[in-house]
Formats: sequence, structure tokens, C-alpha cells
Amino acid sequence: MTQGKGTAEASLERLASALTEQGTLTSDWLPAFKRAPRKLFIPDLIWPGTAHGAEHAQGVLKSENPAAWWDAVASDIPITTQWDDGQHDGRAVGKIPTSSNSMPSMVFSMLTDLSVSEGHRVLEIGTGTGWNAALLAARLGAENVTSVEVDTAVHEAARKAIENTGLVPTLVLGDGADGYTDHAPYDRLIATASTGEIPRAWLEQVKPGGIIVTPWWPEYGGGAIVRLVVNEDGTAAGRFTRTAAFMRLRQQRRKPKHVRQYMGGKPWPADGVRSMTQLSPEDIAGWLPMFVIGLQTRGVFPWAEEGEGDAYALWLRDTAVTSWATADYEPEAERFTVYQSGPRDLWDEVEAAHRWWVQQGRPGFDRFGLTVARDGRLTAWLDSPDRPVPCMS
Ligand SMILES: C[S@@+](CC[C@H](N)C(=O)[O-])C[C@H]1O[C@@H](n2cnc3c(N)ncnc32)[C@H](O)[C@@H]1O
Repeated sequence: MTQGKGTAEASLERLASALTEQGTLTSDWLPAFKRAPRKLFIPDLIWPGTAHGAEHAQGVLKSENPAAWWDAVASDIPITTQWDDGQHDGRAVGKIPTSSNSMPSMVFSMLTDLSVSEGHRVLEIGTGTGWNAALLAARLGAENVTSVEVDTAVHEAARKAIENTGLVPTLVLGDGADGYTDHAPYDRLIATASTGEIPRAWLEQVKPGGIIVTPWWPEYGGGAIVRLVVNEDGTAAGRFTRTAAFMRLRQQRRKPKHVRQYMGGKPWPADGVRSMTQLSPEDIAGWLPMFVIGLQTRGVFPWAEEGEGDAYALWLRDTAVTSWATADYEPEAERFTVYQSGPRDLWDEVEAAHRWWVQQGRPGFDRFGLTVARDGRLTAWLDSPDRPVPCMS
């Protein structure tokens, strides 16, 4: 079975119309959308994702099921193209998605955040399939675009795909946290893998007045895109623009220790101190509360251990492996059992972060921003840099 050319083109036009209607694909990016069509960057074997959430379909092979392949390419969904750094065979989903072609509405929203104009030189971190680099090259000229990818196979595949468009930006194999000094300084830097810190090299390689757009993913979770303007003194500041769930820079992936190691091998509840709380773990489970807790805490991350029915235990652990806490969620309960252990009272920190947010009237993402000091220290703020959010540790 093959997909007729007309049908395929029509489905891509539907995608363009849908994105235009949403307001994410603007008229200034439409020629690039046409010059570097998404279909050229999607490999034969793909795992279609979903617009909201982390679920994936089984692998779809274009030669076997062209209709499903085209449907994915023409839909506003992310498409996973690599699992487990390439150490994965077959059609089943792997453990962690490690490269993808991002969701089109996110691609164009971030490009809009980047505010490019003619002659701008851009550095992209995370070449992936090469689509974003090709879009930038189509808009700004290939000589003005450099893109860095850490994975050799992904980098090579992107090179082949981009060559098919006749647009040839500079594609670099390396760690994007180092930027790429050979073509610096840049007017713009866009990262398409998330980071918990803003690498020094990015601030050094972007001109004063230049813009960095990157997914920021606090340790606690609840990632969002931040748009930073670089200052003359090498600092940067700017607001969050939207929520986003990008895979992390490879070097920043967390490999958490098992909860047993936190408990020092002792039986439950080890030396955990029991208390009760009125804050339901459900009230802090959403993306926005997680983001706000992530802004205020350092080195703490959650994990939900399933219980009977809808019950679960929310575990909090610190990255230094010194402290842990649990809060037991029971449907219909009005108070919840908490255990805390170690030098940090992690539940108290999280509860205080949530309380502060409620006291501020539960502000949304767009009211928060980040300042990056010369030494890379991050300060989150509400509404303006002179209103820093509290930091729990
Ligand atoms: C969401 S994909 C990028 C999508 C891409 N911009 C596109 O248009 O298809 C994220 C990519 O970042 C890459 N990556 C992860 N860590 C990296 C690092 N330290 N330096 C450069 N690339 C990295 C991954 O290998 C992956 O290909």
C-alpha cells in the first residue's frame, strides 16, 4: 500500500492550516515550513507520541503502514526517533526516548520566542532529526546556522536529511553545553533539549542583547521554556513563556538511587519521623505546582509508588542521598500521613513552597522569570527580578 502524493501533500497542508489557525505558525515562518517540510526529517521507523503526556504508540514502519506514518507526520504530535541512546532494537517502545522530532506547535512557538531577523547568527543545541536547524537555515541562510548534537548516529542521520533539502547549516557533533566557539558570537541560541542550569558557555557565546530560548527543567519536574536576554555584564534574565516536556541534555539525566539506599537498608519506616498534613499529594501533582516547587527547591525530586486502588505514596528524595520523605495519598482522606528522615525535611520544604504559591494567588507560568548570574547561579522571580521567589535550601 502506498500513500498517493496528493494525499500526502494534502495532509501536510492540513497541518499548516491547523498550526496557522492556532496562531503558532506565523506568516514569517510559513515559507520556511514549506522549504523544509517535516516529512523529509522523519525516518522510516517512528514511535508517534501524544500532544499532552508521555505515552507512545508501538513503532510504525513507513513501508508497512504508510497511512499511519503520514498521519503522525501531519499531526501536531512529537515523534520519537531513538530510544535508549540507540541501544534499542525492534518496534516496541524502549526505556527512555533519547531523540525525537518535536511537536510542530512547540517548534514554531519556540522559534517565535527566538525573535529572529535577517542576518542573525543562530546556535541550536540538540540537532535531533535536523528539522529545526533546516527551518532556521531556510529563514536565515544556512551560513548563519550552527547546530550541535551529542549522538553520532543522530548527527549523521540529520546530516543526510538536511542535505536532501539543499540547505547545509553547520552540523557539529559534540556536547551542546559547551556551545560552539568557532562560530561565536551568536545573536540567538535555541536549545531543544532541556537543562536545569544555563551553561556558562551559552552566556559567553551569545552577544549582549542576544536571546537564549531553552526548555528549563527543574530537578522537581514541571519544565517550561525560558526566554533569556543576555546583558552586557554577561548575566541574563527573562520570563518563562510556556510549559514544555523536552528530554534532558544527556549529561543531566538523573539516575536515582533506590529508596532502600535512602533508608540505609533498615526496615520501613527506618528512622523516618511521622507527622500528619492537610496538604493532599494530589494538590501538588499538577504541572504548574510542580514547576513552582521546582523553582523554590534545590536537588529534590518526587516519585509516586502505587498503592491499592487509587492510593499511592509520594516519595521525595534529595540528589545528595541524605534525606527522604513520604506522603500517603488516600482518596477521600482529609489528612495524610507523612514520614521524613535526614537533615532536610523534604515534605516541609515542598509544603512551604506550595503554601507560598497559594499565598501569591497561584500565579501562572508567564508571571515567573529567571536571572542567571555570571557564575551561573539561578534566581527565580515573580513578575520582576526584584521579587525573587523564596529558595528552600
Ligand atoms: C527533542 S530532540 C531535538 C529535536 C530537534 N531540534 C529536531 O528538530 O528534530 C533533543 C536532541 O538533543 C540531543 N542532545 C541531548 N543532549 C545533548 C547535548 N549535551 N548536546 C547536544 N545535543 C544533545 C539528543 O540526542 C536529541 O537528539
